[in-house]
Amino acid sequence: MEIFKRIAAVMVATTVAMLGASAGAADKGGQDEKAKALANPYANDSGSAALDVSGYPKDTQSGYALLSVKCAKCHTAARPLNSQFVEPEGASPGAQDAAIAALKKDRPELFRDKKVWQIEAGIWKRYVKRMMSKPGCDISNPEGKKIYEFLVYHSNHHKLNNQKAWAAARRKSLEDFRKSHPARYKELYEE
Ligand code: HEC
Repeated sequence: MEIFKRIAAVMVATTVAMLGASAGAADKGGQDEKAKALANPYANDSGSAALDVSGYPKDTQSGYALLSVKCAKCHTAARPLNSQFVEPEGASPGAQDAAIAALKKDRPELFRDKKVWQIEAGIWKRYVKRMMSKPGCDISNPEGKKIYEFLVYHSNHHKLNNQKAWAAARRKSLEDFRKSHPARYKELYEE
């Protein structure tokens, strides 16, 4: 009888150790991404991590609510909110390319400084997918879609429609960042 109890005890201990190791590994992956996110700052980070979205469409507001929780686990929400990335509105890559061509013609100043406006078809889709693939980032596909739709709306309404205010705020963040993190500034913003 004693021998069976000992075998059972060893089996329980082994299972607990295995579960512990796999939970630890998953957690460690998330911790590594967080450490990486914090060790590699962006000018975006010094901007506000909260946004008044009361004037945004209802659907977009729910994307913002998700972003402020789910995209604030490794860096703050300031990183996506104050990014230079702009994805034009338009349901297909073709429609987005046409929107970019029209902007280039009508508002060429938006294409003179990529540190302030980086306007590309599909850029937020790519980045949301990239963040979702990181260990420790638990965002479902429907949640990712809502966050993505918010980011497209926000990038147009906050950065293009508010052109002057956005440019002033972004340029100030860049200037502060250049002083506080000269080497990182060079790496990110001076090609
Ligand atoms: C698991 C940790 C983690 C989560 C969750 C996370 N990020 Fe990140 N994020 C990072 C890391 C690490 C970087 C540094 C660059 C890289 O590794 O891609 C980063 C960088 C960024 C950048 C800067 C990219 C650039 O080149 O300018 C943006 C924008 C961004 N994240 C947006 C988001 C959004 C939007 C979400 C939510 C959908 C999100 N992040 C969730 C870890 C995370």
